[in-house]
Amino acid sequence: MKILVTGANGQLGNCLRNCSERGSKDNYIFTDVAELDITNAEAVKRMVKDNDIELIINCAAYTNVDKAEDDAEFAETLNSDAVRNLAEAIKDNDGTLIHISTDYVFGKEPYNVPCREDQKGTPTGVYGMTKLHGEQAIAASGVKSLIFRTAWLYSEYGKNFVKTMLSLTSTKPTLKVVFDQTGTPTYAQDLADTIFDIIENRRYKDNEGIYHYSNEGVCSWYDFTKMIAEIAGNDTCDIQPCHSDEFPSKVTRPSYSVLDKTKIKETFGIKVPYWTDSLKTCNIIITGGAGFIGSHVVRLFVNKYPDYHIINVDKLTYAGNLANLADIENKPNYTFIKADICDFDRMLELIRQHNIDGIIHLAAESHVDRSIKDPFTFAKTNVMGTLSLLQAAKVHWESLPEKYEGKKFYHISTDEVYGALELTNPEGIESPFTTTASSKEHHHAYGSEFFLETTKYNPHSPYSASKASSDHFVRAYHDTYGMPTIVTNCSNNYGPYQFPEKLIPLFINNIRHRKPLPVYGKGENVRDWLYVVDHARAIDLIFHKGNVAETYNIGGFNEWKNIDIIKVVIRTVDRLLGNPEGHSDELITYVTDRAGHDLRYAIDSRKLQKELGWEPSLQFEEGIEKTVRWYLDNQAWMDNITSGEYERYYDDMYKNR
Ligand code: NAD
Ligand code: TYD
Repeated sequence: MKILVTGANGQLGNCLRNCSERGSKDNYIFTDVAELDITNAEAVKRMVKDNDIELIINCAAYTNVDKAEDDAEFAETLNSDAVRNLAEAIKDNDGTLIHISTDYVFGKEPYNVPCREDQKGTPTGVYGMTKLHGEQAIAASGVKSLIFRTAWLYSEYGKNFVKTMLSLTSTKPTLKVVFDQTGTPTYAQDLADTIFDIIENRRYKDNEGIYHYSNEGVCSWYDFTKMIAEIAGNDTCDIQPCHSDEFPSKVTRPSYSVLDKTKIKETFGIKVPYWTDSLKTCNIIITGGAGFIGSHVVRLFVNKYPDYHIINVDKLTYAGNLANLADIENKPNYTFIKADICDFDRMLELIRQHNIDGIIHLAAESHVDRSIKDPFTFAKTNVMGTLSLLQAAKVHWESLPEKYEGKKFYHISTDEVYGALELTNPEGIESPFTTTASSKEHHHAYGSEFFLETTKYNPHSPYSASKASSDHFVRAYHDTYGMPTIVTNCSNNYGPYQFPEKLIPLFINNIRHRKPLPVYGKGENVRDWLYVVDHARAIDLIFHKGNVAETYNIGGFNEWKNIDIIKVVIRTVDRLLGNPEGHSDELITYVTDRAGHDLRYAIDSRKLQKELGWEPSLQFEEGIEKTVRWYLDNQAWMDNITSGEYERYYDDMYKNR
């Protein structure tokens, strides 16, 4: 089939050329005004007849909205009369016209209410009016046609986009950009890919009509420019938000219209990318990003990598809390999606839609005590959830021409999968190894053995059994299908935003409310503690530099008996609250031990130190001080999550202990 593309040197024309160069079953003829003047009806007819054209894609138009106000006659000639020429010519050849129109055919709709295809046009300027006339000319001619109305397009071929890039890369000290007008910058290549796909699969037949297309999402021009500046690495130009009144336009619209894309999605079964996706060098899903560790990982990635799109996928169970991410929720490179990792179809949809390059998987049921009461939920989320995510990634990545090239599935696990170590030195010996996280005052190891990456798995609790099982599945996907996977096993984390069912935030909160501090058994069990931000830093390093198929242990060489760390917490809280030393010691209450309570965990993280040069940033004394201060300074955060459901949980867990 022969296809004529007009306006071939414009944005969309160039993008369609890219598509055809990747391979097509059709023969494309790309023309610009020098080769074919579409305002000349005879020339158009001849071109269509002589070349036996079956399909025209009309990308030519008078597109300067402001100039059109002073040049209405020519705008009408190009945007309407010429469209009629194309329609008549292709109709004579029994072909189809694909025509590109605009959201400027709307203009008087309420702010941010998506416009549907069957809504009446309400242009407020010459450009929108002439484009609407073009659509009407097509309808009047009776030609077979598809009209794609699109939002503001940008691409490397776009004049406005290039202009913005140039001002950003020049030495201009300031750039004022409108913040109170929103719209959806739409990557021209995304629209071109969609049209190309519809043509290649002959889906334009039997699907005539008007379709709305734009990328997903809405942003202000200020947001958009900021993002380009970040990607261009420009930190010298001061981009200032300004009110639209400062840039009076001849065409006034309440706001840029938002297009309702339901029809194109349902008719052609397409996924529409977010406006940020095309600007990104890497699209990453972080699961469980609203939880304790996940929120620190999301924050680190969103702030550190403005050119990545970070998609936080979280079910928001009791442990997930969007308040953990309030400081970054409006960043343009961040998206939150509420979804369950066990929902395979949804995971596949998200991975496809966002063309995901990497998955950092933290979503899990994470509390040992809960797993003892309800093991099924742990098997479901931790085992089946991980499996559904793995399979969704596999299906998508294997469908790509590059397959697993440049992809990564990074699974976050725990030291608890290794089982328990002996407490061979109950009084403690000088620790044979250190990291910067090791306590300077209390430098003990409670045994000579440590968990290595090669230590055999031997989980005891339903929690650790479910995590072990998920780790095995991740490794199996590498060994069986060649998926690039990494697993890391970390020791106990502490720091801000931890749900107060875990030892440290629970005890800080109880001291504040003068409630008993329930110490399990004799308080002799040993854990290795790492400040959560240092875990997040390790995850960043390993995601980027770690070797595929490897396991890395992450820990602080910072072992504490529960009772000793509890005393540090009590001392710190009392001091910061202005209580006399020892004031809260009386709250210590020994309670029935946890069933199957593992005696000692101690991670050997020397492989990570040696191979990737990771060192924690905070020594324990500094970390615990920061942590206690944070909980005392953020009591509203704590109070919000410790009402209702939490009280029931607390009673259930501790009443009869
Ligand atoms: P957390 O309980 O604070 O957060 C878990 C998050 O997962 C929550 O936001 C929750 O809403 C989400 N989630 C749960 N089920 C989900 C589902 N089906 N679909 C989507 N989201 C779901 O946990 P955390 O302490 O931040 O731990 C994060 C990860 O790190 C876990 O995989 C855990 O096993 C591992 N880990 C934790 C520690 C630790 O000390 N906290 C240590 C080593 C490893
Ligand atoms: P926790 O924070 O639940 O983490 P994990 O079980 O994953 O190590 O518990 C840390 C240690 O503190 C563990 O040995 C159990 C003990 N613990 C108590 O003594 N009392 C409590 O109320 C809690 C929650 C834990």
